[in-house]
Amino acid sequence: MATYDVIIIGAGPGGYVAAIRCAQLGLKTAVVEGRETLGGTCLNVGCIPSKAMLHATHSLHDAQHNFAKMGLKGKSPSVDWKQMLSYKDEVIEGNTKGIEFLFKKNKIEWMKGWGSIPAAGQVKVGDEVHEAKNIIIASGSEVAQLPGVTLDEKVVVSSTGALELAKIPKRMVVIGAGVIGLELGSVYARLGTDVTVVEFLDKVTPGMDGEVQKTVQRMLKKQGLKFVMGAAVQNVEATKTKAKVTYKLRKNDSEAVIDADVVLLATGRKPFTDGLGLADLGVEMTERGQIKTDGNWRTNIAGIYAIGDAIEGPMLAHKAEDEGMAAASVIAGKVGHVNYNVIPGVIYTTPEVASVGETEESLKEQGVAYKVGKFSFMGNGRAKAVFAGEGFVKILADKTTDRILGVHIIGPAAGELIHEACVAMEFGASAEDLAMTCHAHPTFSEAVREAALACGDGAIHA
Ligand code: FAD
Ligand code: NAI
Repeated sequence: MATYDVIIIGAGPGGYVAAIRCAQLGLKTAVVEGRETLGGTCLNVGCIPSKAMLHATHSLHDAQHNFAKMGLKGKSPSVDWKQMLSYKDEVIEGNTKGIEFLFKKNKIEWMKGWGSIPAAGQVKVGDEVHEAKNIIIASGSEVAQLPGVTLDEKVVVSSTGALELAKIPKRMVVIGAGVIGLELGSVYARLGTDVTVVEFLDKVTPGMDGEVQKTVQRMLKKQGLKFVMGAAVQNVEATKTKAKVTYKLRKNDSEAVIDADVVLLATGRKPFTDGLGLADLGVEMTERGQIKTDGNWRTNIAGIYAIGDAIEGPMLAHKAEDEGMAAASVIAGKVGHVNYNVIPGVIYTTPEVASVGETEESLKEQGVAYKVGKFSFMGNGRAKAVFAGEGFVKILADKTTDRILGVHIIGPAAGELIHEACVAMEFGASAEDLAMTCHAHPTFSEAVREAALACGDGAIHA
């Protein structure tokens, strides 16, 4: 029986990145994956397919609304739904095959099947038990269920079903105005579906900066999404082709019903640790079902590590990847680094929404004195040229030291622009450092610089 330096359970962004880094650091590495393909939630049913659908429907929107303005005339495109889904599937396949290639290149063994940990130092796959000096659990997450709502993945769907509907629905109710609800809701709104988002809280995208929340909701409303806020969904009654969603408004307890052809449940995800045998092993868990780890991604059982959606922190692919690299470094006797204060969050709607660090609300709560530098994309020449003048960059900097504490962007390529802020924050930069950095013209990035200038002597194009 071969002894491995590391066996990783789960081949999502956490697990596959950990495996590559382990192999690069000279460790004999295997990965157990229960799915048919590598890449986990993210590549198979999450980040990648949803972004393909966002891209396709954004292109449709552009053709329908902006082409004629630029003098591009002709028949406006119609939707071939089957082809759009095949395009999405091809994107998935290209990406999952890419990970297979990287596994071969790095001599990582792929053990196909569901793994469990019968004892520290052992991983069981099928009938075989493999010895491992170290085990990394990267088993990810699954959809959190809502009482009164039964998923059939056809009429009442999770994000997975929403990415492969048999046809474009006429009416969709989305439960939850979080990241999945807004991204997939906007996909279907662009395809002509009448989308109503029902949200428990009074604001969309919980945890984001308050001004951003309001602006995002306003922009999506303009794109045709309807919102029912402060509403607790009571139940969903479904037939084979239709559903009725009953909700109760929190402010006055009044009940109402919305009819839909498809209901998307998007009220969060929870760690997936079923079948691993963690209770028998005595692995400590949090109250929310996450695996407890220390600052080095170690569980309370020697030689067992955990990363990604299965542990605490934001459920994001890049967070899982960073933890994968860091845990591999720790196992190889090096230092692992993840700066949890600088993990960007991006919502891939149009326009994109991106944020990193503190919000105005979190700074007020901590009693930190801060200043705000804000710049509208209306003052950015490049954005105006591509019909993307909506939105802004907002920089929050320490009032005394000028250090950048948080950055929030709504606008074109916000998901790319945010990394300028991440690098600056990682280096402890001040708003002035950013403002004094020459930015090429004409770029969207100039809006970031202008917001930094607005923290000091003032933006130029405001
Ligand atoms: P996962 O990707 O969930 O991978 C875990 C893997 O472990 C799975 O393949 C599972 O089959 C396997 N596994 C579990 N238990 C076992 C076992 N016992 N034996 C063998 N295999 C096992 N995040 C972003 O950062 N950006 C995005 O744009 C984004 N979009 C998303 C869109 C959707 C619709 C969804 C659902 C999620 C999205 N996410 C996004 C979140 C992102 O997918 C997760 O944060 C990320 O996949 C977590 O990585 P992970 O490696 O921890 O787990
Ligand atoms: P979420 O946590 O982002 O949002 C869930 C929303 O549902 C919240 O607004 C919550 O208040 C609401 N809600 C909860 N119970 C409700 C009820 N009974 N009735 C009405 N509303 C209710 O979760 P979501 O969107 O399901 O996403 C899951 C995870 O996937 C997130 O943690 C996110 O990090 C990740 N993800 C990331 C993406 C990205 O980075 N672009 C894209 C998609 C998912």
